[in-house]
Formats: sequence, structure tokens, C-alpha cells
Amino acid sequence: MRYPNTRGFPDMALLRINVETPSRPYTIAIGDGVLSSLPALLDEARAPARRFVVSSPLVWRHHGEQMIDAGFGDPILVPDGERFKHLQTVARVYDALVRANADRASTLITFGGGVIGDMAGFAAASYLRGIALVHVPTTLLAQVDAAIGGKVGVNHPMGKNLIGAFHQPHAVVVDPQLLSTLPRREFRAGLYEVVKYGMTSSPGLFDRVARDRTAIFARQPDVLAAIIGESCAIKAAVVSADEKESGLRRILNFGHTAGHAVEAVTKYRRFRHGEAVAHGMVVAADLAVSRRALAERDRRALVDLIASLGPLPAIADLSAAEIVETMRHDKKVVDGRLHFVLPTAIGATTIVDDVEEEEMKAALQRVGFRR
Ligand SMILES: NC(=O)c1ccc[n+]([C@@H]2O[C@H](COP(=O)([O-])OP(=O)(O)OC[C@H]3O[C@@H](n4cnc5c(N)ncnc54)[C@H](O)[C@@H]3O)[C@@H](O)[C@H]2O)c1
Ligand SMILES: [Zn+2]
Repeated sequence: MRYPNTRGFPDMALLRINVETPSRPYTIAIGDGVLSSLPALLDEARAPARRFVVSSPLVWRHHGEQMIDAGFGDPILVPDGERFKHLQTVARVYDALVRANADRASTLITFGGGVIGDMAGFAAASYLRGIALVHVPTTLLAQVDAAIGGKVGVNHPMGKNLIGAFHQPHAVVVDPQLLSTLPRREFRAGLYEVVKYGMTSSPGLFDRVARDRTAIFARQPDVLAAIIGESCAIKAAVVSADEKESGLRRILNFGHTAGHAVEAVTKYRRFRHGEAVAHGMVVAADLAVSRRALAERDRRALVDLIASLGPLPAIADLSAAEIVETMRHDKKVVDGRLHFVLPTAIGATTIVDDVEEEEMKAALQRVGFRR
């Protein structure tokens, strides 16, 4: 697959990437300082004129002033940790919308990380059976992943993201400047998803992360815009080809089968999602090498790149058997078979459904999980 929209973007002030889903076409606008053009971008996307912003107190403290300058002064503020990602918080958004008499000619703008985007996005999907939605993501993870593709929803006490919908936004507006205040660990967690895009779809992006690491960590907006732009282009292309995740979109689950299990067995406390995915990618690469599907030097390059981005929380005390057991309950098991994304080169993957539990356990142990 080629991503023609990524050509020549590093020196462009505003990069536009089109997402063409059957439910709605929309544009991702990426640019340093693009937040000041938010009203114009909303008009261009024909986002209805009554505009409500949903954000969190923390994000608003850091960046609310820029939103006020852009004409959005009166936000609906709700808490945004993963533990607040449930229906009661969504109900607070409904309450505020009802109180303000928000009608069908309203647009809900999410201004925060993936939690705000998913929760407020779900409110937009369900309020009056659906009002317009615009995402202005403020974490790296949300900018390259959560804001694109239309998945919205909340957690249930029994499991993550069990309640949700598909609701494509009218637009996604990405300003890398917003990342200047992001804690380093959150920033790195998002960076592992960028590595994932490189590994599944783009050797160029993979190399760029390795090469520009220092500038990336210095959060140079032009360098960030380049890697965010290419990541968004990959997700946009995949989502455009497969809106509801029946085929191609599954490649974006690379590293996520083991990753989700690692998060679950540690009760979502030890790892940021991206950190668990980083471990998961290493497991998948190890399994791929053992099947001779991937060259050892490509596995080494992945392991080295991940290591160069900083330390990951430890896995040595986590049982491989327990991880495998948890995988069995994963959504990616269809008819008792585990659908698993195997890397075949840097920038290429294949999906297999014949991974045996013993084979998985062996790979987990080789990368450092205990028996
Ligand atoms: N819809 C999708 O397709 C999709 C894809 C991937 C992840 N997700 C969801 O996204 C969520 C994770 O998103 P996340 O990693 O952005 O976490 P998050 O939204 O919890 O944000 C992480 C932390 O960063 C803070 N923060 C946000 N922006 C900031 C900024 N600019 N400066 C300083 N602090 C800032 C937040 O207040 C929060 O404490 C998960 O719930 C996951 O399920 C959804
Ligand atoms: Zn992910």
C-alpha cells in the first residue's frame, strides 16, 4: 500500500490527510499552531454552528487559553483518567448539553487525550441519536490513533471499552504544540504506537523515529508533525479501506494481542497502554522469527529501537501461562482461533490464525516472561 498524501509534508505548514469512510469523508489537519485556525477549519468541515467543547480540568489548565483565544470560552469539564472512563462521566456531558439546550445543529469538540475523545465522542454519538463531532487530541496517542477511525466508547466494570459505537468525526485537528506539556512517560507511550505504524506499514517511518529520536524527544514541532502526519496517513488509509475492522484494520492490532493481556493481568495499573504494546510487539517479532517469517536482523532492529526510547516496566514476574490464558478471552479470538498479526519485515505483516498456545508461551518466555 502507498500513502501518497505523506509526500513532501515536512516543510508544509498545514498537512491535510483525507479519511474516506463509507459513513463520512473527513480531513485530519495537522500543523504547528493550527489550533488558532480551529474556527475556520470547523466552518470548512461544515460542523454545525453551536459548538460545545468537552475537556478535562488538567488539559484546560494547560491549554484552555489557546481555546479561549480561538473563541471557545466555556468548556464542559469532566475528569479524564482511565478510571473515569465510564457512563456516569458521559452522563455529566449529557446533563450539560441538555442544560444548554444543545440541538441537532450542535457540534461537540473533544479537547483532551484518548479518554476525553472516546467518552465525549460517545456522548456525541448518542445524544439526540448523534450530533456532529470534532476531535482536537492533546496526547500523542490520541493524535496518531484514538482520534481517527470513529471508535468511541467507555469501559464497563467488567472490561475495557465494552460499551461503544462507531461515530466518525467531521474533522480532526492536530496541533503538535499541545504536546509540549505532556509528561514524558505519556509521550513515550504514544511513541510506541508510532513504532507500530512503522513496523506494520512504513520502513521510512520506522527509520525516521530512530534517526530523529533526539529532536522527537525535544518535541520539535516540525519533526513531530512529520511523524504524526505519517502515522495519521497510515491509520487513515487503513480505516478508509476497512471502517468496521473486518479485515485490513486488524493489522493495527500488531503487538496488541499480547499487549492487552499484559495490561489485563496487571489490572491496567503497571503499564501505559503503549508500553504494554511495546512488549507485545517484541513477543510477536520473536514468534515470527521462530516461524522463519521474519529475519532476525529485523527483529533486532525493532528490539533496539524500542530499547532506545527508554525503559519499560518489568515483565519478569508475569506468568506466560497466565498471559496465554488471558489471551484466550480476548476479542480477537474468533471460533476458538487466535487471530494474530505477525511481522514479516519492517513495514509488512501477515495475519495468521494458527498460533498454538504452547508456541505463544514459548515466545513469551524467550522475551522474559516467567514460566
Ligand atoms: N478510539 C480509538 O480508536 C482508540 C485508540 C487507542 C486508544 N484509545 C483509548 O484512548 C485512551 C488512552 O488515551 P491517552 O493515552 O491519550 O490517555 P488519557 O486521555 O488518559 O491522557 C493521559 C493523561 O495525559 C493528560 N493530558 C492530556 N493531554 C495533555 C497535555 N497536552 N499536556 C499534559 N497532560 C495532558 C490527561 O489529563 C491524562 O492524565 C484509552 O482509554 C484507550 O482505550 C482509543
Ligand atoms: Zn494501541
